[in-house]
Formats: sequence, C-alpha cells, structure tokens
Amino acid sequence: MNQVIGKSVNRKDGRAKVTGQATYGAEHQIPNLVHGYLVTATIANGSIRNIDTQQAAATPGVIAVFTHKNPPKIFKPTNNWMTSKIYEARLPLSDNKIHYAGQIVGLVVADTFERARDAAHQIKIEYETHSPQINAQKANYQQATSIFGEDMEYLAGEFETGDISVSGAATVEAIYTTETEIHSPMEPHALVAHWDNNDSVTIYEPTQWVKGSQRTYAELCGVPQEQVRIVSPYIGGAFGCKAFPWSHGVLCVAAAREIKRPLKVVVSRRQMTANTGHRSQTEQTIRLAANKDGKLRAIKHIAKSCTSPVEVFPEPCTGITPVIYATPNMHLKQEIAVLNVGTPTFMRAPGENPGMFALESAMDELAWELNIDPVELRLRNETKEHQRTKLPFSAKHFAECLKIGAEKFGWSDRQMQPRSQQQGELLVGWGMAAAAFPALRNRAEAKIRLLPDGIAHVLTSANDVGTGAYTVIAMTAAETLGLPVENIRVELGDSIMPNGGMAGGSQMTATLTPAVLTACQKVLETAKAQNAKEAFANLRESGLTAYEATASSAPGEEGKKFAFNSWGAHFCEVTVDEEIARLRVTRWVSVINIGRVLNSKTAASQIRGGVIMGIGQALMEECHFDPNIGYPVVYDLATYHFPAHADIPRIEVSFVGEPDLNFNPMGARGCGEIGITGVAAAVTNAVYHATGKRIRSLPITPDKLL
Ligand code: MOS
Repeated sequence: MNQVIGKSVNRKDGRAKVTGQATYGAEHQIPNLVHGYLVTATIANGSIRNIDTQQAAATPGVIAVFTHKNPPKIFKPTNNWMTSKIYEARLPLSDNKIHYAGQIVGLVVADTFERARDAAHQIKIEYETHSPQINAQKANYQQATSIFGEDMEYLAGEFETGDISVSGAATVEAIYTTETEIHSPMEPHALVAHWDNNDSVTIYEPTQWVKGSQRTYAELCGVPQEQVRIVSPYIGGAFGCKAFPWSHGVLCVAAAREIKRPLKVVVSRRQMTANTGHRSQTEQTIRLAANKDGKLRAIKHIAKSCTSPVEVFPEPCTGITPVIYATPNMHLKQEIAVLNVGTPTFMRAPGENPGMFALESAMDELAWELNIDPVELRLRNETKEHQRTKLPFSAKHFAECLKIGAEKFGWSDRQMQPRSQQQGELLVGWGMAAAAFPALRNRAEAKIRLLPDGIAHVLTSANDVGTGAYTVIAMTAAETLGLPVENIRVELGDSIMPNGGMAGGSQMTATLTPAVLTACQKVLETAKAQNAKEAFANLRESGLTAYEATASSAPGEEGKKFAFNSWGAHFCEVTVDEEIARLRVTRWVSVINIGRVLNSKTAASQIRGGVIMGIGQALMEECHFDPNIGYPVVYDLATYHFPAHADIPRIEVSFVGEPDLNFNPMGARGCGEIGITGVAAAVTNAVYHATGKRIRSLPITPDKLL
C-alpha cells in the first residue's frame, strides 16, 4: 500500500476548476429554463396579514407567483434523522406565520433572473408584527436532547459521573462565549429542477449527500426514489450547510413541477446570511478541579446554544469533552433556547469546535494556575478510553502530536510568564491547544470498469466538496490495480451511480475508499488477473467491452471494541500591537494523527483550511442580528469579515501515527474537520501569554484587547 497511497498527488479536478470547466449547480444549461427569485420576510416574528401579488404578477415576463395562499404541492417527509431529513421541519409557504427575518414567504418565476427579481420587489406585504426574541442572554433555556438518535446519544445527552462538587489544589471556573458564524461557501446555494412529464425530476444542486438528497426530494414530491435524479459533480464549498435540502430547494422542485418548466433558484448572498444555516452562538461554563500535580479531579461543562422556532439543532459542544482528558468526576449538559433567527446547523466540527474552544481555554487557565507547562498538563491527563462508552481508543497518538508539535515549534524556549516576549514594539505570545474529532465511517458502494483503452473507470454517487475525494479515490484504485493515477477516471456526484455515502462528519474518505479497494480487487478476480496490466491484456483477448465489478464495504463489529477518534495539537505565535490593539497570527504548527494519510498534499490542505477557518473564528467572524428587525447585519462576503491571505501565516502541517487498521482496511480516518478544533483556543492562549489578558469571548476584536 505505498506505491501511490501516502504520496503528494495533485487534485484530479484541479484543472477543470481553475479553467472554469467544472459545472456547478446553477451553471447547468437547460433549454427553456426559467428563473425563480425568493421573496423573504422583513420581520422576524409575526404573521402575514395581507400579501398583494397583483402588480408583480402583471409585470412583463412573470410566469408565476407562489405564496402561502397558493403553495405548490409538497408532501411531508418522514424526516427521520439521516433518512429523509430537511434542514427545516416546517415546509416552505405552509402558512402565514413568520418565525425569523429572511424566512421564505414567496417565489416569483419569470423568463429572466432580472425580471423575477424586479417583480419580487413589487410584492406588497402587510405584517402583523410581534417583537422578536433574538437576544441569547435573555432567552429561555431548556435541556437539549441529542438530535443524532439513540446510537449517538453520547454526543449531546446529559452525562454525570462521580461527584462533580469535589475541589482540588486548583480550580478554574469560567464562562466562554462564541458568536454566530455563517458558512459563506464560495458557491452560493442554488439549484435547477427539471421535470420530465410531471413524474420524474432531475435536480442539479450542490449536495454533500447525493443519495440522501434523492430520498428526501422523492418523499417531498411523492414519487418513487428512482424517479428523482440528483446531479452534483462539483461543489464550491460545503461545511455542513449543503448536507440536506433547505426550504428554497424544496420550493424550487415543487414549483418547477407546477409550472412545467425547468426552474433555477439561486439564493442571494444577502438571503444566505439568514436562511441557509449558521453556527449558533454559544455560552459555555467550564469548571476544572485538579490536584497539585495537575491530575484532573473534575470537569463540568454546561453548554448553551440557540435554535430557530422551526427546527431543533443544539450545537453539541460537550460531545468531545469525555474523549480528551481523564477524570473520575464529570458533568456534561446541553441547553437550548429558541430565538427568532434562521435555523442553525452543522458547520465544520459542529460541537467540537466551540466545545474545544472552551475546554482548551480552561486547560490553559489551569496550567497557569498550577504553574505547569500546558503541554505537560495535557500529557498528564490523557485518557486511554472514551469515558462515556468505556471503549479503548484505537491507534491513538495524542501524546506524540503534543511532543512532536512542541519540538517543531521550539516550545521549550517559551518564557513561562505573560508579557515576557517582545519583538520591537510588539508583544509576542505563544499558545497551544489540542485538536480532536471523532472518526466516523458508514457503508458505501463503488463500481469499477476496466476499459479497452487502458483506463480504469470508478463510478459512485459520492461527492467531492472540495476536499480531494476525486483524487483519493483515484489513488486507491491506482494502488490496488497497479496503474498510474492518470489512468484512473473518476465520476462522482450522480444518484444513478452506486451509493457512495455522505461527505459529512469527516467520513467520506474512510467510508468510500474501502469500497473502491474492494471493487478493484473484485474486478481483478473477474478478469482473472493479478493487476490491471494483465486484466487489460485478458480484456483485449476476450473481445469483451469491459470488465466490471461493483462492491460495497461497511463497518463491522469493530465499533463495539474500540472508540475511533483523531488527534492533534496546534502551536501558534501571535503578535500584539497594544497601542492600536492589532493582533496578528504569525506562526503556526499543527501535528495531526488521522491514521494512514492517503494523499499528503490534500490532507495537509484540509488541515490548513480548518486552521484558517479557526483563525477567522478567533479574530473576526461574527454575525449579529439587528435587535429591531432581526435580520443579520452582515450582508455578503464583504461585510462578513473573514480571513484574507494577509491574515494567515505559513501553516506547517505534519502527520504522525500509523494506519488505523482496526477502523477500516485502508487504515484511514477523515481529516475534514479536526483541523479547526482547538484553533481558537490556541490563539486566545497565545494572546494571554503575549498580553496577560484572558479573552473568553470570541472573536478577539480590537475592543477586547484595548
Ligand atoms: Mo460537516 S459539519 O460534517 O458537513
């Protein structure tokens, strides 16, 4: 397994993307296509008393106007977790109630985008307005339950063991807060729905889960699954916001059926800030008690997050807490409140990300309290087992991540005193934090065809959300068949192909590559060959057009024996110009263990992307809601502040560990999300070292440093 696997291989899809040949959802050209523009609520709480569409409907080019008075037919899905989920349980246009600003209240269809948009602005709505609840501090919190079903209760359910009131030589207790963040993928939410004879539909839409989307849309339309085709070959970024259909998608597909024309709906950047998901703001209380030697005696972690009136989504902050540090006494609890804002959802390391900001900040505070080096404190508290499931971790190299990271960074030169390092006028601080994310895997299927021209063709419904899936699939096939990567053709993102699983929860690589491996082995058996070269020779001799095999791969009983998780450590340097409160991140080292690294280039890119997103969260990202009208005060990619190149230093990424063969035959765990975990804490910990100021609320805007 080392001819191709583990090497640094360029993206198979790179050229298509940089030359504009990759086709995204809204770019599919369909004859006779018409355009839909969403009408969205300008109040956050209340109802529509009257909606006047007359003028809009009479505008040239307008084909249809849908409101709650004449919604297109939509069937209610069963909406079980992971089977036919939509992001918002309330179906679009189902009544006149308004639950948040930006909620879809209408759809105007016209022959051009401009005419649809113009007509949409001519719709007059009279509202009955109630004052919106958008203040998280004043909200009414209740205990949250896991949305992940009983199997994954350990992610969000309450947990209590031992006596949480114990004290130790040192105790730290503090409240940490994070702000609402919006996804802002490069490719906006958009789709084209094309019905054929009113009974089957092709949907061109970016989705992290082609087969899930197919099933959900089939239920919503009341047609068999085979009559829905999802096409999603390229996705311009999806960090959890493109895993299930949103209301605009549901409405587009249903409206296209009624008007009997292919219909495109693109959500504007402005609308996307309000109605296609965000990471909820959080408020977390952490209490740590430890002995003089640093050994933890108790961890209390109470997390609050907010959801919308139309769906329950608790940000599962406490899920990772029992995974990292051992303690005999622990209390974990999640609380949730309803605000009049759009529905929050999964966003790169949902839960682990804010959760580890709080936990890793508290660990740093404890280290200062005890005068123990923060790396040493973490080493002393490592847990060998998951403290909720009691299963031992497989292929865990957390200590190595910490030690190697410290060495690469030069951590031992750090002065154990705040404000002790300077560079000219600037204060310099060094900080570190752990990274961790669970390793997930599911069943997947792939088809492989050996063609007479010497090409191996891999087909699966799975998708590449920008992570490098095309490339690791090709590499897996190349390795197994003994072919160069260039001779592998990969086709993804179409529901007519075998079920490739979901690109979410960092599970695509671990889920799909074992299926590709198995399918390749099977096709060689079919060809009665040891490798592709022999197989192609046999093929030419046989006169057949192709050798073909489909195989699936799924987890077995290993999940009953081991807890699977990935590990890492971040080390960073910041500089602070105290006079103008300018904070810069100037150096970064991440050491990560994800089992076997399949493509060292794209894996490192995933970690870098996570770190960059984490630096954005630490320094600048925040979405506030207008206290009067409830609408986000950020409008687009210009007003939502996130990092540009100049904000990001060189990020040094390395990997440690060995293949996790308990987990799957490839030995690979995912790497999409772990990179962002712990990042914000590493930054605030460095800021404390630089300035002596403990920042417990993100982002670290200049006002907090002055
Ligand atoms: Mo990601 S938040 O698992 O789609």
